[in-house]
Amino acid sequence: MNKDQLTDLLHQMTLTEKIDQLVMLDNSFFQKDAAITGPQVKLGISEDVIRNIGSAYNVIGADKVRKLQDEHMKNSRLHIPLLFCGDVIYGLKTVMPIPLGYSCSWDPETIEKGMSIVADEASASGIHTVFSPMLDLSRDPRWGRVMEGLGEDPYLASQIAASEIKGLQGNLDSHHVASCIKHFAAYGAAEGGRDYNSVDMSERKLRQEYLKPYQSAVQAGAKMVMPSFNTINGIPSTANKWLLKKVLEEEWGFHGVKVSDYAAIQELVYHGYAEDAYDAAEKAIHCGVNFDMKTSVYANYLQKDVEDGRVKEEEIDEAVMQILNIKNELGLFEDPYRQASVKEETARQYTEESRRTVKKLADESVVLLENHDVLPLNKNQKIALIGPMADSKGTLGMWAFNTDASRNRTLREELTERVGQENVKYAWGCDFVDSMDALGDIGKFFHPEAPRNLIEEKQKALEAADASDVIVFTMGEHAMQSGEASSRTDLSLPSCQMSLLHEFKKMRKPVVVLIYSGRPLLLQEAADNSDALLQVYWPGSEGASAVADVLTGKINPSGKLTMSMPRSMGQIPVYYSQLKTGRPLQGSGHTGKFVSKYLDCPNSPLYCFGYGLSYTDFTISQLSLDNPYMNKTEPLHAVIHIKNIGNCKGDTIVQLYIHDEAGTIARPVKELIDFKSITLEAGEEKDITFGISEEKLRYYDANMDYITEPGKFMLYAGLNSEECIETEFTYQL
Ligand code: GLC
Repeated sequence: MNKDQLTDLLHQMTLTEKIDQLVMLDNSFFQKDAAITGPQVKLGISEDVIRNIGSAYNVIGADKVRKLQDEHMKNSRLHIPLLFCGDVIYGLKTVMPIPLGYSCSWDPETIEKGMSIVADEASASGIHTVFSPMLDLSRDPRWGRVMEGLGEDPYLASQIAASEIKGLQGNLDSHHVASCIKHFAAYGAAEGGRDYNSVDMSERKLRQEYLKPYQSAVQAGAKMVMPSFNTINGIPSTANKWLLKKVLEEEWGFHGVKVSDYAAIQELVYHGYAEDAYDAAEKAIHCGVNFDMKTSVYANYLQKDVEDGRVKEEEIDEAVMQILNIKNELGLFEDPYRQASVKEETARQYTEESRRTVKKLADESVVLLENHDVLPLNKNQKIALIGPMADSKGTLGMWAFNTDASRNRTLREELTERVGQENVKYAWGCDFVDSMDALGDIGKFFHPEAPRNLIEEKQKALEAADASDVIVFTMGEHAMQSGEASSRTDLSLPSCQMSLLHEFKKMRKPVVVLIYSGRPLLLQEAADNSDALLQVYWPGSEGASAVADVLTGKINPSGKLTMSMPRSMGQIPVYYSQLKTGRPLQGSGHTGKFVSKYLDCPNSPLYCFGYGLSYTDFTISQLSLDNPYMNKTEPLHAVIHIKNIGNCKGDTIVQLYIHDEAGTIARPVKELIDFKSITLEAGEEKDITFGISEEKLRYYDANMDYITEPGKFMLYAGLNSEECIETEFTYQL
């Protein structure tokens, strides 16, 4: 359709039809028998509303979508097609590592490819928009949703965010989908790491750090935005005019569609920000929130708001037109199915090429934290493979609920294939959790396995270990202990796992620990009682193959942490880009005691941002600048010399950080401004050049101007955020 036709369509709509177009309901409303008695009644909306709604989400499957689209267009007076959305965050059928995992690849190009697979598989099944990518920066591993995000750093997350949008949207042909970035904004800074909790931070910290990845995604062309559940400085994002109108629309030029999060408009009342649903409807529409997800607030109150003069019909028209625009951009008026079909699903889902892509990402997402000369395993070692993940296909994380996990292979199968049946002794050994209560209701639902005899299982594990040369032990948390509504106050490994690890330690055999988790856990005790330690997160459909390849040396691990790993709960939040304080641990004028530190724990994390080992070794021997001065028009060039001093080929990620020595606002000790991945043969050395433009130095100064102030800057180059070589330069106006 062209603009005039869309405008004409809008003018044909009654006010009621316009308001119904702003309603988004999930799949539970479309299972005929259930809908009438179940959610529809509960929500208090009429059949008429359902007949005219604008969007449905989590209806998965081309046949279901086509049937529902046909029915909807037949029953609605103006035959406006539904927009089908879905929670496809990191994979519908072929599943990537969780985003916190794949962010450790520092590989935007392959992530883009991975997201194009997400789009291809989702669109084949009739999904038009995915509620992805999640771009919430977080430095608090108590918050379970860190698994959906890209870690703690604004620059890295912004680079990856742009690639995720490109991968999902492409040119919006029928193999791509609209993205809906979430959760806008700063949801990852929830107080206490408790999900849905309030967020309080300065506008400067918001703009300088937390808003950056969303801004990058909008600049990359994101079509939709989902405001977050939380308040920011007392105002819920869902009705935050400063955030949704001033920043998102006026400053960033976003004029796409905003989808409330699940029942978030109604929650304005719970927040105490709206008197009632009538008030909530008004507050949300004034912020241009187009879709009311899964409540009847718009459907049942907006019309009265208009009749009472609290909302102008023009506001409704604008919200509806933005929805008609995205439907038109997606070609729904010409092809309401966007070529989705069972045939397309068969052709485009679970393909070998997709598996290869997610395998590459999984290879690059494994982070080697410790290796005391035990990895890679050698061919004729007898391996005891122990633990709840060792023979499980559930390596996918909380949001991968549309795939057939039975298609995946387990680590036991993959390892056996590589080293031979005779060299692998498997035992379950222990569970993920000390008690099922840790999983809450939904977790128990996903963990239906019959209880085992834990004493017998432990004994079998000890016998397997006793009869082997090396022990590979899968530890961590259950997949349902991270993700939404999964905040935790104690990130220690469960005692059932630790007691087994201590038994293994007594055997004086090499112990390799694999950590499966959706977040950083407390790994000090596991590190102290093992000889190699790998963080694998939830590595996706090809995770078992990737882990087996890393263990046997076919893949040399190159992953680098994107979220600091704390030594203790008391350190949280711990992240690399903190301010120096007036009493820094090193270099302050005060005696040892009176500096910014803890009495009972070092300041540094156990493993820092950017950290990850390899089976080889690299050194960065020099960092030189082509000029000690720079200005707005003349960028600097930094040359770094790196050498592979180990005995095998390897990949690593060279990281470049700055510190602004003095500003009108105190500046972090380091800020990532660039990174490059490099592959070197054993003994090979190379120079890498980075361009440093003035834009990379900018920050929000005391007047909230986004500028670069004159003065001295430190420049750091390293293979993680702690061990760097440094030089300095001066920025001149
Ligand atoms: C959930 C999540 C959001 C998701 C939405 C729809 O509560 O916050 O990430 O896309 O509801 O399921």
